[in-house]
Amino acid sequence: MKKILITGGAGFIGSHVVRRFVNRYPNYQIYNLDALTYAGNLENITDIENAPHYTFVKGDITDADFIHALFEKHRFDGVLHLAAESHVDRSITDPLAFVKTNVIGTMNLLNAAKAIWKDNFEGKRFYHISTDEVYGSLGATGLFTETTPYDPNSPYSASKASSDHFVRAYGETYGLPYVITNCSNNYGPNHFPEKLIPLFINNIINNKPLPVYGDGKYTRDWLFVEDHAVAIDLVFHEGKNHETYNIGGFNEWQNIDLVKLLCQQMDKKLGRADGESAKLITYVKDRPGHDLRYAIDASKINKELGWEPSVTFEQGLEKTIDWYLANEAWLKNVTSGDYQKYYEQQYDKQQS
Ligand code: NAD
Ligand code: DAU
Repeated sequence: MKKILITGGAGFIGSHVVRRFVNRYPNYQIYNLDALTYAGNLENITDIENAPHYTFVKGDITDADFIHALFEKHRFDGVLHLAAESHVDRSITDPLAFVKTNVIGTMNLLNAAKAIWKDNFEGKRFYHISTDEVYGSLGATGLFTETTPYDPNSPYSASKASSDHFVRAYGETYGLPYVITNCSNNYGPNHFPEKLIPLFINNIINNKPLPVYGDGKYTRDWLFVEDHAVAIDLVFHEGKNHETYNIGGFNEWQNIDLVKLLCQQMDKKLGRADGESAKLITYVKDRPGHDLRYAIDASKINKELGWEPSVTFEQGLEKTIDWYLANEAWLKNVTSGDYQKYYEQQYDKQQS
């Protein structure tokens, strides 16, 4: 039986990946390693927690000795590495936390895999999940391809770029079998309400201002999280070693247009008059170093592995809103305690 380690499986994307692997692969022994930071939540995966071939391990990837011992004990055949500090705004206030988890944490996993696998890489795979933000910012036209040079602008994207380079370097130098994917903005159930879509859903429910950074003309490419999980499954099993695949939704939106669509859908769901939620839109001070536009060319994964998104943005957004409205207790839990402090620090000083 193959032993698979998934890191960050209590987080947003990780929880969808863990669920998919546990449900689809009863022949794998699946280990979910997560430090349960503010972004990790076991409530995201209660439905699979008792599966016989699933084990949750609470632990920190920045602890080299712990990681080495874990690999010694279980001798994993494959690693899907999603654990990270993931929020750009937090990386601006505390960059070092991003170096620790995203760079050092990734190094610890690479070193442990290399030590355990030695030179016998048959059937082994290290899959590193990365972001389109490593490519920097696009102007009004063009798309990021797998050969676009790295040009990260935020401490978050610089830490992800650094970890990507180390993964690649371990492949070139030691022959470690790796794949990397660079994905665009995900959205969907279980998304922590510090990111644009879940933050705005929560604020609309609570009639709080919707803080749009700058002029709201910044553009992102959005992908439903379950479509990302399908792509990750496909790349893990069928992607070529030492290759990079871009994953995206072919779905670009300027923030302000997205927010208006979200407001319209929320008005319908909450039985509010059309235009009611949009009155909450408030332009605030811009994010420093804010990347103007991200857009992914996902034709490689489409042509080579046959992947494409399964839902339209309107469908995905409706599923997302329905999930948040049906899971008010989840939302209340994650927005109590430290979230309030974060919110005050991030937004109360930001009104423009
Ligand atoms: P998230 O912040 O929701 O979850 C991160 C998870 O990692 C949490 O469960 C957290 O507890 C865990 N974690 C953090 N530090 C840890 C540590 N030191 N040791 C062990 N576990 C730790 O993040 P997400 O949005 O689900 O992103 C997952 C991965 O996908 C990240 O690598 C991110 O860079 C990448 N990614 C995210 C997006 C996106 O839109 N969210 C897009 C592309 C790529
Ligand atoms: O592109 C992939 C990346 O997408 C991932 O690697 C990151 O982990 C993920 O957090 C996300 O980064 P972004 O910075 O694009 O996501 P965020 O939801 O923070 O912001 C989306 C856009 O909305 C961005 O242009 C900033 C803007 N924004 C965000 C927040 C939180 C606002 O206007 N107001 C806000 O309050």
